[in-house]
Amino acid sequence: MASEAIAVANRSDRAPDLPVSTTLAADVARQIRLSVAVSRTPSVISAIRRTMSRHGIGSARSFRALLAVDDALADELIDEATVRETHFFRSPAQLELLRHTILPQFSGRAPDAPARIWSVGCASGEEPYSIAILCKELGLPARIVASDISRKALAEAAEAHYGEWSLRNISECLKRRYFLGEGSGFRLRPELTRGVSFTKVSLGFDRLPAPERSLADFDLIVCRNVLVYLKTIDVSRVAGELFACLAEGGWLLTAATDPPLSKHAPFETAITCGGIAYRKTTHLSADRDPPRLNGPNR
Ligand SMILES: C[S@@+](CC[C@H](N)C(=O)[O-])C[C@H]1O[C@@H](n2cnc3c(N)ncnc32)[C@H](O)[C@@H]1O
Repeated sequence: MASEAIAVANRSDRAPDLPVSTTLAADVARQIRLSVAVSRTPSVISAIRRTMSRHGIGSARSFRALLAVDDALADELIDEATVRETHFFRSPAQLELLRHTILPQFSGRAPDAPARIWSVGCASGEEPYSIAILCKELGLPARIVASDISRKALAEAAEAHYGEWSLRNISECLKRRYFLGEGSGFRLRPELTRGVSFTKVSLGFDRLPAPERSLADFDLIVCRNVLVYLKTIDVSRVAGELFACLAEGGWLLTAATDPPLSKHAPFETAITCGGIAYRKTTHLSADRDPPRLNGPNR
């Protein structure tokens, strides 16, 4: 279907330099279910131009018609328009917060009641697998869901095969313990990949929570370096949705560059050694112990 449809478009439209307006970019982004911050509009315009040009598609109307029937073309555009930078143990301070403060709160659970963790915007998988390694080191049973809007990123994540650059922040000791050398790179051991499942989620478009997809009741959600790319109105919606996806007492971690979420949902917040930590405590009793949020290096 993809190549057929593109071949038809190639015959009729050959004007790769056709200007792409802001309005067209917004319409196309909506069509591929990609929320786009205003600051990202020029990048999306360039991504559309590159994709049209690569396929020799010259008119916006043909491009939109093709996108409507060609999932592969839509996926290609999503990959052109998004930023996938990530690596293992990307935010050491936040991982220390997880290791010493947040994850130990889930210890003592039975293997059949593992901690439920969601890595949102997981790119090629380094983030959820870093958390899987931490859980393994702590002896903590955990079930990790990882999601992204990019099918290609999810496929790479499921492969769990990485080059040196992705592993630049990981100690030699952990590398030896959890990776097997394979070809010019390293493959994460199956006992780590087994506990991580992948699913496509488009923030700002997919309705959340989605218990039918096991996207609900999380003890921990990590959504780092994703919200910064979303349209402001979608950040507000997604903040409320992520709050609703947390179990009572559950945690949400974002990155320093992500927009603050407190005004969008009734999170309890604390400034920690790993940045802002959000927590859902609506039904916890008022006389509970105050949350212990500071990592060891405060
Ligand atoms: C910069 S990477 C962050 C990866 C990882 N969370 C980290 O901090 O290392 C951003 C990821 O978010 C994904 N993404 C962007 N917009 C999204 C959306 N609206 N819904 C879901 N994923 C999205 C991109 O495909 C990309 O893989």
